[in-house]
Amino acid sequence: MIYSRIAGTGRFLPERILTNADLEKMVDTTDEWIRTRTGVERRHVADKGQTTSDLCLEAAKIALKDAGVTAEEIDLLIIGTTTPDLVFPNIATIVQHRLGIGGCPAFSIEAACTGFIYALTTADKFIRAGESKCALVIGAEIITKLIDWNDRSTCVLFGDGAGAVVVKPSDKPGIISCHLGADGQYKDLLYYPVGVSKDLHKAGVGDSKIIMVGNEVFKVAVKTLGNVAEQALKANNIDKDDLDWLVPHQANLRIIQATAKRLGLPMEKVILTVQDHGNTSAASVPMALDVGIRDGRIKRGQLILMEAFGGGFTWGSILMRY
Ligand code: ACO
Repeated sequence: MIYSRIAGTGRFLPERILTNADLEKMVDTTDEWIRTRTGVERRHVADKGQTTSDLCLEAAKIALKDAGVTAEEIDLLIIGTTTPDLVFPNIATIVQHRLGIGGCPAFSIEAACTGFIYALTTADKFIRAGESKCALVIGAEIITKLIDWNDRSTCVLFGDGAGAVVVKPSDKPGIISCHLGADGQYKDLLYYPVGVSKDLHKAGVGDSKIIMVGNEVFKVAVKTLGNVAEQALKANNIDKDDLDWLVPHQANLRIIQATAKRLGLPMEKVILTVQDHGNTSAASVPMALDVGIRDGRIKRGQLILMEAFGGGFTWGSILMRY
């Protein structure tokens, strides 16, 4: 039996940090409101000239080094993102070229905040099928370029970044299970109103903004993330006490706390980055994983549950031994 195993991780965040105090000067909000409602204290924001592939490239280089592999060894490149550099070519081909390689399949997956979980699940299938021996999987986003900085209900939530993992085959787990889901009936609760085939010609730069019915998203997110976690444990006949770490999507501290409570997991077993990164959409889970590994909390052999929820809605979980 072939399993996929994380061989290395990396993350990259833009240099500029926007604190809650900075936001207090931009919109009618307070540090206290943002911290108590969301858990966010600061977030990294890309410069005007920075692109998502810039962030991907740096995160990828770190992950490759960590895995001890060269770019030439990559035979599959998948990127989860909603904010690619261009409509086409897809961002994975741009990153592939910037890594100095070519030839292997390279494509992106758009599943909002669940993008990385979808991307890693896809890579897992390639590896299990024997079609990849060294996959580079990235979750990356410059979501702040979609932000209306006058809209206090959304501008305080988001940040930019990229997280990367190198995945290789192994005769023992590795990734144990992946569960993905989606339900388009919730589209109107969270979306960006302009796309290539819809109203693009009508919109001027900066005319559109993320539309979110925050409190409704909150309720569905809590319910779905709880269900997703329970589904993963049940499918593998694993008790919650066996979990070493929960690495959840970092949308809101209260959502994460509610999920942990429902699972009966103490917060000491949860990797939290929302305070420093905000909601970085598809980048949030791989960056949180990298943080937990690099600060020494997540150790080889430990049992990790990663999960995410995002616009669509989309959702998913990956249970794995690191
Ligand atoms: N500062 C001060 N007050 C604010 C701010 C702000 N930044 N934003 C909203 N408010 C006000 C509202 O106007 C409202 O005022 P009112 O009562 O006078 O009308 C009040 O605060 C409460 O607003 P709610 O929206 O009900 O606040 P809530 O407690 O639900 O918190 C939040 C809002 C943080 C957005 C929360 O609903 C949430 O986190 N939802 C989930 C969001 C999420 O996870 N989104 C991402 C999903 S992933 C993806 O795909 C991108």
